[in-house]
Amino acid sequence: MTDTKRTATLTIDGKSYDLPIYSPTAGPDVVDIRKLYAQADVFTYDPGFTSTAACDSTITYIDGAKGELLHRGYPIDQLAEKSHYLEVCFLLLYGELPTADELLDFENRVTRHTMVHEQMMNFFKGFRRDAHPMAIMTGVIGAMSAFYHDSLDINDPQQREVAQIRMIAKMPTIAAMAFQYASGRPFVYPRNDLDYASNFLRMCFSVPAEDYEVDPILARAMDRIFTLHADHEQNASTSTVRLAGSSGANPFACVAAGIACLWGPAHGGANQACLEMLEEIGTVDRIPEFIARAKDKNDPFRLMGFGHRVYKNFDPRATVLKESADEVLDLMGIENNPKLQVAKELEKQALGDPYFKEKKLFPNVDFYSGIILEAMGFPTSMFTPIFALSRTVGWISQWKEMLDDPQLKIGRPRQLYHGETMRDYVDVEKR
Ligand code: SDX
Repeated sequence: MTDTKRTATLTIDGKSYDLPIYSPTAGPDVVDIRKLYAQADVFTYDPGFTSTAACDSTITYIDGAKGELLHRGYPIDQLAEKSHYLEVCFLLLYGELPTADELLDFENRVTRHTMVHEQMMNFFKGFRRDAHPMAIMTGVIGAMSAFYHDSLDINDPQQREVAQIRMIAKMPTIAAMAFQYASGRPFVYPRNDLDYASNFLRMCFSVPAEDYEVDPILARAMDRIFTLHADHEQNASTSTVRLAGSSGANPFACVAAGIACLWGPAHGGANQACLEMLEEIGTVDRIPEFIARAKDKNDPFRLMGFGHRVYKNFDPRATVLKESADEVLDLMGIENNPKLQVAKELEKQALGDPYFKEKKLFPNVDFYSGIILEAMGFPTSMFTPIFALSRTVGWISQWKEMLDDPQLKIGRPRQLYHGETMRDYVDVEKR
């Protein structure tokens, strides 16, 4: 914490309180209110945490006004162009880009953990075939706590390290198993001779009856989607993982909590909701009707895949994904896919509409990732599991940073209470 000796003075009922101000390496200064309740007997009020810094972090920085996203200082567009997902995982976890030897060792460690305990397959058999893959992943990841007893002790750095590698390694396998299970196809084992993205595509789309060749353009697009979703500061699911971790819960339980939070349509569920919205719009001529609904204050409908709590400029990830979307659409073709034709026209009309420009509602990462995943042949139900797979490294990097923070305390917010004040119990015959 950089103590600048500057203070903010808060005056309540004529009494003044000096609150320390800290200056970050980038972004807004923060006012430290930790002692405010003890000194002034008041809480601050910020239910959506729009003005609250919940932690001191060095992992990811977002400048919403500039549309900037840095991972350990490296801009996301450079990482998407020049790096790849497992190298970004190393960067997020350990703080620096790996040397060639470090990268080889890390990739080998991850590769050798991609299989899951054979008995975990029984978990899947307990789900209905039409179970949402996010329900399966929330359950199966949480159940990893019941299998990997040698990586549950969060106070043992070795066990924490193994848990981190296991989660990065096994999430694609589990996500692919959820996909295969829903489709009624047999599970496909990972292959150690394939890179991370190719392995995932093969586990999802290959069948034992024939060989499967991964298309390098699809593998590159898949890896780029993983990279662009890897971490994103203190978003809702990351904050969920941090809060769960602050109680000392094991890493698998914390990630399962993050998966559950990500599932919401306002968060990671937006990519699925976006494609369902495109399906509902159906044809290009109905776009104006839906844009009008999105602008109508009395209509709860929102354009899924548009807008962002932090970015009030273009989401830099969307800029990169837009390029990948064009590549994949060229490869896979959109002529026979009305959803993708509607997407291209919707993007054009929304970007040209004053309402969206004034409110700075640009397409976000979920708009383009949904389009690419649809073109790659994934059902919409697999969109958020792929987001969860990608974000696992962000969740565990932030969880690791939190555990290493000497100021770690259990997260326990207070409230503004407007309920009944004390009153005596009334027997039922007197009510
Ligand atoms: C992700 O936090 C993260 O970093 C998340 C994420 C990550 O990587 O972890 O980036 C991933 O979750 C991306 C966002 C995916 N969600 C969606 O695409 C769902 C649709 N978007 C909206 O629900 C909304 O934009 C949010 C939830 C993303 C952000 O909402 P905020 O910051 O709470 O803003 P708001 O709801 O107060 O909206 C501001 C104004 C409102 O109008 P007014 O009340 O001021 O008149 O903009 C309007 C909203 O009505 N608005 C929209 C809109 N989003 C906001 N109007 C139409 N369509 C939309 N999509």
